[in-house]
Amino acid sequence: MPDVISFARGAPSPDLIPVEAVRHATAGALEDDWQTALSYGVGIGHPGLCGWVAGRHGIDAGQVMITNGSLEAGAMLFRHLLEPGDRVIVEQPSYDRTLLLLEQLGVEFVPVALEADGIDVDAVERALERGPVKMAHIIPNFHNPAGCTLSAAKRARLVELAAEHGFTIFEDDPYRELPFGEAPPPTMLSIDKADRVIHASSFSKTVSPGVRAGYLAGPTGLIADLAEMANETYISPNMLTGSLVLELCESGALDRNIGEVRVHLMERRDALVSALGKHLPQAEFVLPEGGYFLWADLGPGFDTVAMAKSAKQAGAPFLPGTAFMLEGGDTSMRFSFASVLPELMDEGVSRIAAGI
Ligand SMILES: Cc1ncc(COP(=O)(O)O)c(C=O)c1O
Repeated sequence: MPDVISFARGAPSPDLIPVEAVRHATAGALEDDWQTALSYGVGIGHPGLCGWVAGRHGIDAGQVMITNGSLEAGAMLFRHLLEPGDRVIVEQPSYDRTLLLLEQLGVEFVPVALEADGIDVDAVERALERGPVKMAHIIPNFHNPAGCTLSAAKRARLVELAAEHGFTIFEDDPYRELPFGEAPPPTMLSIDKADRVIHASSFSKTVSPGVRAGYLAGPTGLIADLAEMANETYISPNMLTGSLVLELCESGALDRNIGEVRVHLMERRDALVSALGKHLPQAEFVLPEGGYFLWADLGPGFDTVAMAKSAKQAGAPFLPGTAFMLEGGDTSMRFSFASVLPELMDEGVSRIAAGI
């Protein structure tokens, strides 16, 4: 057994990374597209990749810009749209790095709880009654960290509320392409008629995190402004990455990899669920229907901060719920199952349970 079985990092184990396909695509990019791949670009990034992403979403190429990963996409959007003191709806729990970015900007958090089918939209309405909201950050599919997926009805309601109250929905969607069964409901971007939704996604989970290729898709004017800001900041995102990712997209290698990764991730989810049943039967959770994460609540009397410390010493690190909450979270824990081979899941969970 390995010394460390880590549930902590939202990253795939190395066997899920399509190294051969990336090697091949890089050679292809340098053969056929080297002039674009090796030169300065502009703020939107590789135009061919913008076109491919636009086709995938059924929108115009002018509605897309490539970024160095989707976290950067969010960071640029926040800097462009938000001022200190703006009220921003955040899900609870939510992705810790996004919370940190927003905190650094000095916005006022408006925390709204997640339910099994995504954000509590009645609570969103109540928050809107209390004062204007500038933005809502929503992770619609296979949530990080909560594992849940936003229902079609709630997507429609949120898009309506954004149009009615004039706030922006930041649809942060890196896991959309990783369902274990049926595809998730349509994106909020696709149902928005009022230019209120800006969508971010990434090739981190469908190719590899190290390629650092993500994108924003949304209203043409907003994308043009953000592309100008990108150009003034770093000239263009990495063009070689844009070129090799485009090669993967066009050759069909991306879709083949997505098909394989989904099967492995589902196997890992199932192995985790069975290990939890055996070693942590108190754990309550929403079964993730895709993606990387399972959020378990152990109930009153448990202290997952203390458990995380002993689990780290026992060689099975995980993140306690407090890492993803503005307040509380100390009876909850996030498991990243993407990072653990199915045959190690039982041992990993038993190490955590032994520390209780
Ligand atoms: C919800 C969410 N948004 C954004 C990101 C950032 O991804 P990247 O910058 O690698 O595209 C992650 C990564 O784990 C995530 O879970």
